Amino acid sequence: RTVKAADLVERLTRWRDDFPTPGVRFADLTPVFADSEGFRAVVDCLAACAPDADLVAGIDARGFLLGAGVAATLGTGVLAVRKAGKLPPPVLRREYHLEYGTAALEIPADGVALRGRRVLLLDDVLATGGTLAAAAELFRQAGAEIVSAAVVLELEFLNGRAVQGDYPLASIVRI
Ligand code: PRP
Ligand code: MG
Repeated sequence: RTVKAADLVERLTRWRDDFPTPGVRFADLTPVFADSEGFRAVVDCLAACAPDADLVAGIDARGFLLGAGVAATLGTGVLAVRKAGKLPPPVLRREYHLEYGTAALEIPADGVALRGRRVLLLDDVLATGGTLAAAAELFRQAGAEIVSAAVVLELEFLNGRAVQGDYPLASIVRI
């Protein structure tokens, strides 16, 4: 299963140099998700990282697609970790540094019971790691446990793994 997912990711990913800024090599997984076999294989592979999760969280924006697919597979709900300014207050907010620029992520501070929850946290790509670490920190603040974080593609040369907390981190393809 993992082999098939990895193979499809490697075959279908669109690589673009100097996007969104000069010097950045951008991995666009759009064709992987648009492919019926690719999406199924990736979702099943990510779901297998934390079959006992009771909530799946996906990071704005492409993590939403993965989060919804994996949550439906595991039979959990899905929580969208939003970029700043999209959610009504009160929110928990965490700023972070991107490979290009800075940004902030938010989750609701009420309305979803997060204390003690077992969260599988998903995103499409791990680059410098700031996005995933900020999202994980939001759940820690809310009293939830990240049982695993998982991404489709890990850009190992950017060392994003080094800035993560002590949760397991899975990736389908490492480059
Ligand atoms: C990309 C990617 C990850 C993040 C990884 O998202 O989808 O979320 O960068 O970078 P990092 O590990 O260096 O933090 P981006 O911020 O471009 O936004 P998008 O998902 O909304 O396109
Ligand atoms: Mg993103």
